[in-house]
Amino acid sequence: MFERLERMPDDPILGLMAAFRADPDARKVDLGVGVYRNERGETPVLEAVRKAEQAVLTRQSSKTYVAPAGNAGFNQAMERLTFGDDHAVLKGGRVRSIQAPGGCGALRVGAELIRRAMPEATVYVSTPSWANHVPLLTGAGIKLERYPYYDGATGGVNFAAMMEALDRLPERSVVLLHASCHNPTGADLTEDQWREVLALVRRRSLVPYIDMAYQGLGRGVDEDAFAPRLFAAELPELLVAVSCSKNFGLYRERTGVLHVVSSTPTSAEAILTQLVRIARTLYSMPPDHGAAIVHEILTTEGLRSAWLAEVSSMRERINGLRREVVTQLNKAQSLRDFSFIERQKGMFSFLGVNVDQVRALRERHHIYMTDDSRINIAGLRSENIPYFAEAVAQVLGAAS
Ligand code: LMR
Repeated sequence: MFERLERMPDDPILGLMAAFRADPDARKVDLGVGVYRNERGETPVLEAVRKAEQAVLTRQSSKTYVAPAGNAGFNQAMERLTFGDDHAVLKGGRVRSIQAPGGCGALRVGAELIRRAMPEATVYVSTPSWANHVPLLTGAGIKLERYPYYDGATGGVNFAAMMEALDRLPERSVVLLHASCHNPTGADLTEDQWREVLALVRRRSLVPYIDMAYQGLGRGVDEDAFAPRLFAAELPELLVAVSCSKNFGLYRERTGVLHVVSSTPTSAEAILTQLVRIARTLYSMPPDHGAAIVHEILTTEGLRSAWLAEVSSMRERINGLRREVVTQLNKAQSLRDFSFIERQKGMFSFLGVNVDQVRALRERHHIYMTDDSRINIAGLRSENIPYFAEAVAQVLGAAS
């Protein structure tokens, strides 16, 4: 039977990882997959993670199953990290959470829940959005449509076009929103714009599904959670998929959580039984290790403050790189003004070059980025920014 299966094309993001590893050139620069890197180009284990991991392993006395909903202490600590300690929605008992295998697992469990609740549901995602949103959501059997988001001319959000499109959606449409550090553009909504989106969502009876994969890497841990906190305070229903891959550096441990806000504690309880059944049919139970580490960090005062400091230093490094890359790009050529990169947030920006120029950067200069010209800012280092800027100037045909 397998002879009928054709070879799949490479994943647009993960395929680049393999190509980069195979490139022997010493000047190569990996701006592909979205992982944080330090000034030495490493993706380090955070100190808070290392200490928490030791504590977890010392205490661990069994490898027996935890539960389909995962680690209850982790779920609770993540609810407080997402919504804030004293949020009314937590006090009102209207949130239920399920630990999931990474942000991807959380997104998929949420999509399965939406299909169970509304088999005809359509989810609307921004243009552009993270490449994996499409297979993750449609794989659950829900329809996917688009709404306009990015304005290539300004490097910001085309808010008028976005609002106009959302205003035309049928009631109970699901709208996927990026809490912060929009992937792939880095263009985020302002707090005032979030308030306008909230008013529209309420007026049009839409269901927000928020993806928060970079909490702390944009403006700050609390600031980046502005949208889920605001929406949970004002709306009866909401889904939030959270990843711990980037802000805890736990990529391979597959650590994430799905929060579902519902109108009453009774319906929230019913939803939890649905979530548990979905997990049971997909993977039965999530992996334990990463969630145990996050739980240890968030509930141990010294570790929590150490982690917050590490998140701040990752964020500051990214913002410093943004400033430096704008300076160097604008110095190396005069055809384009790249200052929009400094206004954007998180790990990603669209460079705004075409696919031939992306290929030229890869083939001639060993600089790797996805075909849509998304760059992982955290993949740059002070020492290779001039090389990168000069290469971009050359492919733009404007070297000074
Ligand atoms: C990315 O966007 O590069 C990351 O979220 C990693 C991934 O799985 O795609």
